[in-house]
Amino acid sequence: MIVEQSKIFVKTRLEGEGSGHDWWHTLRVYNNALALALKENLHQELDMIIVELGALFHDIADHKFGYDDKDRITIISNFLSPLGLDSKKIDHVIYIANNISFKKGKNTIALKSIEAKIVQDADRLDALGAIGIARAFTYGGHKGRSIYNPTTKDDTLSHFHEKLLLLKDTLNTISGREIAEQRHHYIEEFLKQFHQEWNII
Ligand code: ADP
Ligand code: NI
Repeated sequence: MIVEQSKIFVKTRLEGEGSGHDWWHTLRVYNNALALALKENLHQELDMIIVELGALFHDIADHKFGYDDKDRITIISNFLSPLGLDSKKIDHVIYIANNISFKKGKNTIALKSIEAKIVQDADRLDALGAIGIARAFTYGGHKGRSIYNPTTKDDTLSHFHEKLLLLKDTLNTISGREIAEQRHHYIEEFLKQFHQEWNII
């Protein structure tokens, strides 16, 4: 019930978002997180509602949408409290939303819960592979960046080197790492082809 209501809330807030962080991104992260959790659950006890809500709320009131940490705490707890979720669990959901971000590789603090690690992996997987490539250019376009500009670093191709190619080594779970390897390889192939095409002209 809480999860279903949360889905409606998050969908309403993120539907139509134009920078690659729309509801479909959150739904993919949610589904990936559930799939990873199923595999991890064989080894340890997980609080599944935390995985589900952590995934659903991970991009709610994010800094990139102009919110600060305080706004996020208020928005998430004002929604979840009246639904009867206990305050420890609400704090855990907020902890996930606040801490899973990549932040140009500066975010190297180890996450304190397996639920957070799973949601982080699910979010990172959505920045890799074909979908990751699509999202990078969507975000770049949203920010007015060139696809590629060999004379500056303010282009989307630079983002592949600054972030996307580093991601596969930051995954927390074994099953996440396996999927990341394949998606990483796909990005490498894309970059090879891109530079080949660029240099022919
Ligand atoms: P995180 O929360 O892990 O830091 P972000 O929310 O900043 O991640 O970004 C997630 C998505 O946005 C990814 O698909 C990523 O490729 C894309 N993105 C973020 N920054 C850039 C950028 N400078 N250029 C292109 N894409 C970007
Ligand atoms: Ni995300």
